[in-house]
Amino acid sequence: MKPIEEVMEKLRKTTRQKPIIGLILGSGLGDLADEISNAEQIPYRSLPHFPESTVKGHKGQFVIGELEGKTVVAMQGRYHHYEGYSLAQVAFPVYVMKAMGIEKLIVTNACGGINTDFDPGDLMLITDHINMLGDSPLIGPNDDELGPRFPDMSHAYSSELILKAEEAAAELNIHIRKGVYLATHGPQYETPAEIRMMRVMGADAVGMSTVPEVTAASHLQLDVLGISCITNMACGILDQPLSHKEVIETADRVKADFTALIKSIIRS
Ligand code: 6GU
Repeated sequence: MKPIEEVMEKLRKTTRQKPIIGLILGSGLGDLADEISNAEQIPYRSLPHFPESTVKGHKGQFVIGELEGKTVVAMQGRYHHYEGYSLAQVAFPVYVMKAMGIEKLIVTNACGGINTDFDPGDLMLITDHINMLGDSPLIGPNDDELGPRFPDMSHAYSSELILKAEEAAAELNIHIRKGVYLATHGPQYETPAEIRMMRVMGADAVGMSTVPEVTAASHLQLDVLGISCITNMACGILDQPLSHKEVIETADRVKADFTALIKSIIRS
């Protein structure tokens, strides 16, 4: 049996809920899963083919239930390449969520601002991405039942969902940015020279996630909405060292806006 089928067999014994929207919750943004009602928590470690998580404080579980009247599956905690997982392992839960029945995927992350118009605490709708991981989750034999060998990435982020998100943000009086997200493998932050290069390349923000999952979502032809929380300015923009503490503190500060925005988008 295929790995996805083995996971589904286990999930069908665990839950009867059928999610239509998937949510990947980034660093410091996982609390949204606590707002899900009739919630069923399914730890990744209880599922076959899901590797053990290595980062302390990162929860690793699916939360399936109702949010704003829709059945959703949230990933509270995700896998990162820098933890040592292959991109295929990082993206695997997206295939599982698609098998659960999702049609739309909302991906979130905490990232550094490269665009000097941005400020820490800004929320940014991802319009497109740049893959600087030097790798793809799709390397290897293609399963034609899942998606094409050479997926089109020209609409990796749905313009319809971006429009919906902009409308929701305007209604909530939340100032929202739009831009291009660039993914590095990390775990080190960038040098000032790297950030200057990335700005020239057209990146507005930089982080260590999201691109593997969105590449898989393109393979699966899912509609994707990407929301970044600019938790800090990237290296060399302000004369101050970067710290993971700042990332978590800023994510914490914008949590209320972030939660309200996602709930409103799901409602509409
Ligand atoms: Cl500045 N860079 C990367 N790669 N990831 C980040 C970040 C910066 N800030 C938060 N996450």
